[in-house]
Amino acid sequence: MTNGEHAITGADLDWDAAAPTFDDEPDHGLRDPEVRRAWASRLRSWLPERPSDVLDVGCGTGSLSLLAAEQGHRVTGVDRSPAMVALARAKLAGRDAVFLAGDAVAPPVGEERFDVVLVRHVLWALPDPGRVLRHWRALLRPDGRLVLIEGVWGTAGQVGIPADRLTGLLAPIAGQVRLERLSDDELLWGKAVDDERYAVVAWVQGP
Ligand SMILES: C[S@@+](CC[C@H](N)C(=O)[O-])C[C@H]1O[C@@H](n2cnc3c(N)ncnc32)[C@H](O)[C@@H]1O
Repeated sequence: MTNGEHAITGADLDWDAAAPTFDDEPDHGLRDPEVRRAWASRLRSWLPERPSDVLDVGCGTGSLSLLAAEQGHRVTGVDRSPAMVALARAKLAGRDAVFLAGDAVAPPVGEERFDVVLVRHVLWALPDPGRVLRHWRALLRPDGRLVLIEGVWGTAGQVGIPADRLTGLLAPIAGQVRLERLSDDELLWGKAVDDERYAVVAWVQGP
């Protein structure tokens, strides 16, 4: 997608302005019980069975953070948008979860390490994704995993990151990498989609 001069990137988007209506999309707010169940089921299959420490990078309004917390995990969410962080804090009030305003490229978590770095629809918006993935990998414990949900959206002009590019970037830094195609699962999106949507689970050492 272009604005006539340059390709649209995440840096062009005003996420604070988007925050109040962000959850109106079915896959964002997960308000429809069927959509919510579909995401909960996928997430359960991507996360460890045992209660784990999950870093939700670019957490937005915290919809996936909430599912992870409901599944018994401890969540740290990071987002650069103060409006998104405020909504995530409200959504997970009373849960075992903390939300920090900060850059996805270098989440402000100090020496803390995690079992999972969970990222949905954020990597595509960041410059130099290869460097960012190496940094996220360094935030993992030795048996940790990256759970990355991305895609290429739109049929005319396109934004996003294709699965083969992402798996190529992961190859030198991960053990086993599992790609799961998500476009055919209407329940996840609340409608039929014909663009590329997928999840990648990448273990540091292999499962
Ligand atoms: C498409 S939304 C996805 C939100 C959430 N992960 C979800 O799936 O519902 C992208 C989010 O990434 C955040 N974001 C974009 N660039 C960022 C950056 N450099 N650092 C931190 N957050 C960023 C935005 O503020 C926004 O909340």
